[in-house]
Amino acid sequence: MENKNIEIKKNITDLFNKVSAVFDSSGPRIFAYFGERLVQLAGVVEGEKVLDVASGKGASLFLAAEKVCANGKVIGIDIAEGMVNETNLQIQKRAIKNTKVVVMDAENLDFNSGNFDHILCGFGVFFFPNYKIAFNEFMRVLKNGGRFSFTTFLRKEDEKFMWLDDLVQKYLPEFEDELDEYQEEDSPEFHTEEGLYKILKGAGFKNIQVISEEKDFIYKDEQEWWDKLWTHGYIKVLEMIPEDRMEDFKTEVFGKLREIKEPEGIVATMSVLYAFGDK
Ligand SMILES: C[S@@+](CC[C@H](N)C(=O)[O-])C[C@H]1O[C@@H](n2cnc3c(N)ncnc32)[C@H](O)[C@@H]1O
Repeated sequence: MENKNIEIKKNITDLFNKVSAVFDSSGPRIFAYFGERLVQLAGVVEGEKVLDVASGKGASLFLAAEKVCANGKVIGIDIAEGMVNETNLQIQKRAIKNTKVVVMDAENLDFNSGNFDHILCGFGVFFFPNYKIAFNEFMRVLKNGGRFSFTTFLRKEDEKFMWLDDLVQKYLPEFEDELDEYQEEDSPEFHTEEGLYKILKGAGFKNIQVISEEKDFIYKDEQEWWDKLWTHGYIKVLEMIPEDRMEDFKTEVFGKLREIKEPEGIVATMSVLYAFGDK
């Protein structure tokens, strides 16, 4: 189990190092939108000390840094060095003084107990192979009365895009098991409202609240939608498709996209959950 978890974390680290330069770039900035909403809903205010777990390219971090002002502090942690370097570069470029990002595993936090007013985690919890250890750690480093706020994807497919899985399956039938393993790696409880209540309650959090949101994102054309697909975790699926079949796969994807294209562009609906719990 221990070895399996080390391997899972290594794969995740490699994956996010690979996409770190382009993460959430091209097309609508989906992670930035939900990351900023998370900060607003969490209620981060001036003077607070915030830990942004799995901070990525700073989808929540930069707004949190603004909200806490010069007398507050934001620390981001991420397991992927590439993400950390990219975000620290942005912090330097923007001359932000109250924020830094370090490489750290969410399941092993190098902070004293009772340290933070808020912990944020945008679309990260389902990557932790032993999330219970991570949630214990969050509980430990939060101050009494501190709040943990995070997002996950709601397990609800956008019906307009149902064809994508079938198409992927068609191009890599021999990798079917691998694909199933990839899709079922994390706990299904992370993707329902009831599941999130249960997880937070089990970890000892109080005043639990879970809310869902559906949001449309518009891609101007097929190319923009395709480019976006290569800027996040989905790259793992794309890379399973043999190189010599990629052009045909792309042609079929573009054909499907043309069928669902609307006058304003390709509209994709994302369904997410925001979860909150207090120590
Ligand atoms: C989908 S990205 C989300 C990034 C950012 N929070 C956002 O909303 O845009 C997931 C991030 O989780 C990080 N991650 C995965 N497992 C982690 C772990 N065990 N500890 C810390 N970060 C982790 C990845 O490196 C990646 O940057």
